[in-house]
Amino acid sequence: MNILILGSGGREHAIASQIASSPACGHLFVAPGNGGTAKIAKNIDLSIADFEAIKKFIVDKEIQMLIVGPEQPLVNGITDAIAADRSTASTMVIGPSKDGALLEGSKDFAKRFMQKHGIPTAAYQSFTASHLKEGKQFLETLKPPYVLKADGLAAGKGVLIIKDLQQAKKELENMLKKEKFGKASQTVVIEEFLDGIELSVFVITDGKDYKILPTAKDYKRIGEGDTGLNTGGMGAISPVPFADPIFMEKVEKQIIKPTIEGLQKDSIHYKGFIFFGLIKVKGEPFVIEYNVRMGDPETEVVFPRIKNDWVEVFEKLGQGRLKEIDLHIDPRHAATVILVSGGYPEAYEKGKVISGIKEDSSTSRIYHAGTLETEEGLVTNGGRVLAVTALENSFKEALNSAYKRVDEIDFDKKYYRKDLGFDL
Ligand code: AMP
Ligand code: GLY
Repeated sequence: MNILILGSGGREHAIASQIASSPACGHLFVAPGNGGTAKIAKNIDLSIADFEAIKKFIVDKEIQMLIVGPEQPLVNGITDAIAADRSTASTMVIGPSKDGALLEGSKDFAKRFMQKHGIPTAAYQSFTASHLKEGKQFLETLKPPYVLKADGLAAGKGVLIIKDLQQAKKELENMLKKEKFGKASQTVVIEEFLDGIELSVFVITDGKDYKILPTAKDYKRIGEGDTGLNTGGMGAISPVPFADPIFMEKVEKQIIKPTIEGLQKDSIHYKGFIFFGLIKVKGEPFVIEYNVRMGDPETEVVFPRIKNDWVEVFEKLGQGRLKEIDLHIDPRHAATVILVSGGYPEAYEKGKVISGIKEDSSTSRIYHAGTLETEEGLVTNGGRVLAVTALENSFKEALNSAYKRVDEIDFDKKYYRKDLGFDL
């Protein structure tokens, strides 16, 4: 079958690698893709926001399966748009409906959903500009630090964690009255701060059944010891050592099952990934956030550990027959180190020639994120440039092995975190 993947990061390269190796994969396209996907698929210069152009491409190339990598097209309703058009309605879309994507697209919706279905999460209240005074009063009832979240998508920047009450009140005002995060902060969720350790749990679901994928932990801050600015992710490991069977049983019973059942009860059409951003507090799981897609860079450690034919998995998912699939998980541990352009997540330069990438072996994978194939060879084309993944018998060995690969790769102003796994 012909398949189109939307996105351009390490996540999409990791998904494309698995899809390309399936005997059931016909022509594989990635829009817009990167220097890595160009080697295993055909990159297409399509905007992921232009649904009309995507639909036309689906018709022209007889695409039978569309895999949506990032959240924005899902939140904008791509799944519904494709289903509603007679010329594309038969194409399977891996990604939830617009209603389902609200789990990520609106933090207020996600909190209401969790409260309604008894899913453990931090206590909260939501406020709009007309209730700024009540919002400030609510802050006074909480203990510091104060957690303020823009309701809508804000490119991963919409969460503020503030120690000082006066500062928190000021930022609440900036969000509600001065559109600090544009429309995304017209509603603000204020919630209780949870003190614990974070992890990511993923499922695929056809709306009735679900399969739990390997757990992962990512490192979001630019600096060592989890300091400095938030980034799109500086590395990840899988599995998570503290996600032991007793904890995972609680996650399944208290969080995953009620989420899937909640979607059914609320008649929300959902075929795709659910990414549970969790925090473990005194042994108990709480949901920090839902995402309606795979994580990046978590995909770069989760996908290489799943040995199934992914075209088959997605086909069964699309047909509502996920029950028939058993996932085969590689018992080895995976680690990925993200190489970024110096300066990221603030200003950085592009176009630096990349050298030293060796072909994959059985224990390592190099996924491209911000790269571009040019006449000069492969060059940097974004903040996050490469994800260097290794598979070994422990996360420490996997990290060591990934770091060895990282040393072989060079480009001007290459930066990476050398302390991944420091907290485990
Ligand atoms: P989010 O965009 O919802 O993932 O939030 C970004 C980050 O803020 C999370 O990864 C957490 O580290 C932190 N965070 C969000 N909500 C809370 C909370 N209620 N308590 C503690 N930390 C939080
Ligand atoms: N790694 C976190 C995310 O993909 O949102």
